[in-house]
Amino acid sequence: MCGIVGYIGKKQAAPILLDGLSKLEYRGYDSAGIAVYNGEKINMSKAKGRLKVLSELTHDGATLPGMIGIGHTRWATHGAPSDVNSHPHFNETKSIAVVHNGIIENYIKIKKMLEGKGYKFVSETDTEVIAHLLDYYYNGNALEAVTKVMHRVEGSYALGILFAEEPDTLYAVRKDSPLIVGKSEEGNLIASDVPAVLKYTRDVYFIDNEEIAVIKEDSMKFFNIYEEELTKESTHIEWDVEAAEKGGYEHFMLKEVYEQPKAVADTLNPRLKDGKVVVEELNMTDEEIKAIKKIMIVACGSAYHTGVTAKYIFEGLSRIPVEVDVASEFRYRNPILDEGTLVLIISQSGETADSLAALRMAKEMGSKVLAIVNVVGSSIAREADSVIYTWAGPEIAVATTKAYSAQLVAHYLLAMKFAQVRGTVDDAEMETLVADLKRIPEQIEMLLGNREKIQKFANRYVAAKDVFFIGRGIDYAISLEGSLKLKEISYIHSEAYAAGELKHGTISLIEDGTLVVALLTQDELFKKTVSNVVEVKTRGAVVLSVTNAGNTDIEKNSDYTIYIPKTNKYFTNSLAVIPLQLFSYYIALGRGCDVDKPRNLAKSVTVE
Ligand code: AGP
Repeated sequence: MCGIVGYIGKKQAAPILLDGLSKLEYRGYDSAGIAVYNGEKINMSKAKGRLKVLSELTHDGATLPGMIGIGHTRWATHGAPSDVNSHPHFNETKSIAVVHNGIIENYIKIKKMLEGKGYKFVSETDTEVIAHLLDYYYNGNALEAVTKVMHRVEGSYALGILFAEEPDTLYAVRKDSPLIVGKSEEGNLIASDVPAVLKYTRDVYFIDNEEIAVIKEDSMKFFNIYEEELTKESTHIEWDVEAAEKGGYEHFMLKEVYEQPKAVADTLNPRLKDGKVVVEELNMTDEEIKAIKKIMIVACGSAYHTGVTAKYIFEGLSRIPVEVDVASEFRYRNPILDEGTLVLIISQSGETADSLAALRMAKEMGSKVLAIVNVVGSSIAREADSVIYTWAGPEIAVATTKAYSAQLVAHYLLAMKFAQVRGTVDDAEMETLVADLKRIPEQIEMLLGNREKIQKFANRYVAAKDVFFIGRGIDYAISLEGSLKLKEISYIHSEAYAAGELKHGTISLIEDGTLVVALLTQDELFKKTVSNVVEVKTRGAVVLSVTNAGNTDIEKNSDYTIYIPKTNKYFTNSLAVIPLQLFSYYIALGRGCDVDKPRNLAKSVTVE
């Protein structure tokens, strides 16, 4: 996700900003920029591409003299990567400069208001709204303008702000997206994350939600959204730089597992308005949605697994027939597509070769192609007829977790939108679905609290040779993902099986001590799957059951049971997958595997 830095002190700001941004490169970005006040005005330089481009453009900062500035590395969410969409963003008179990490959920409404008052926008970003809104509220009191903006915007934001009319002060604001203040001999700094300031100081202040830091070269004050001054204690950071890049987690994968509540909330919240699903980027009229005869979901790996789940949800809620296929099969089997078929391509990277080829083939065959993608401006995002972005932020670990969870949510929203338009779900049911959906982030948070218990169980199976995951319906789809997670990071052989299919051969592999992970989150299939659990148990299997809170009956047939909070039957994958991710992570850790970069794998398979 985006990276923010800021500096005010006795040294030239630009080189310090560039150095700080280089320490945030691990967060993933597609463009970068800095703005520095030179004693008369704010000068800015920004460009699409790597930080190297910006360093060359500014001669390592020499072209931007001054001792107060802000900098940014952008991970695009609204508006493709480009020079003009890069941060910082100015107001029209260039007297205010802003850098932002997060998502302004109501930016379209505010943009329309400001345009109505004559403001001119130059970029496609949500962030530019903040620069103009500060301008709109500024009347000589920067803190007042900042708090007014905070009361007006909805969403997540970490902001660094420069006011040309207050050149001895740097403003930092935080709501949901992290931001810290570093106090050093050379001056004071702000940053999205600790690695950017460690070169100058280990004493940082963590800005909390809806707080503002007012920073001068030798002092700093903190205020809440009501302009009441706060007292804050600094924290001494013990981490080394590498640990700091992972936010103190041992691996990026674990950090990203723990980022899932935010990834889900960021993907979900901007698309729920007054109890309805709003997917503006869908670019489909109600008539076009009603005319869909079939949905063909095409993807690879974990993205494909979300498609298997989505089949049950689209068919269950919007009653549209769905077919799901892996892209490497789909592209060579001469599929039957027509203008009544909506092809849905799912991809975190947006660069997977087979998925991109499937997209191109579907378009040639006359189908409308919709994509669910995490990387803004990627090939699949650009070539699809329309794209729904998951806002999980950059995913560094090869094994996907937060992007997978965000893709599931995108499917839920789409299925609910289609059901809303096609009238296959009444208002009362839609209200319940929306309420259940809104609870998912906090329920994931709760499940993440089970880490120690799952680690203890996982440690017992570090030497496992074969692990089976079984389930029916959506539980089968969850099994697919649980099995892949285990295989790809621990190198233990595993298979996912439709629970009712075991007896047709594979059950012959079950012997004393074979670990079977049973998914039982679909109430109407619970008893059927219990009978499959009994079948494997009587053949000596060790059973780990994952089921809904309250289903304690399963304990008599299980060696270990993990309960997930109650949610709508269509959403259980979002919860059940959490313990399975942690289970795989701790087994891989126990086996000494390279969790973030497993052997033979790449984060994006851009070749066939
Ligand atoms: C999942 O953990 C793997 N990283 C892999 O299966 C991945 O989901 C697959 O390669 C698809 O990648 P994409 O989502 O970027 O298209």
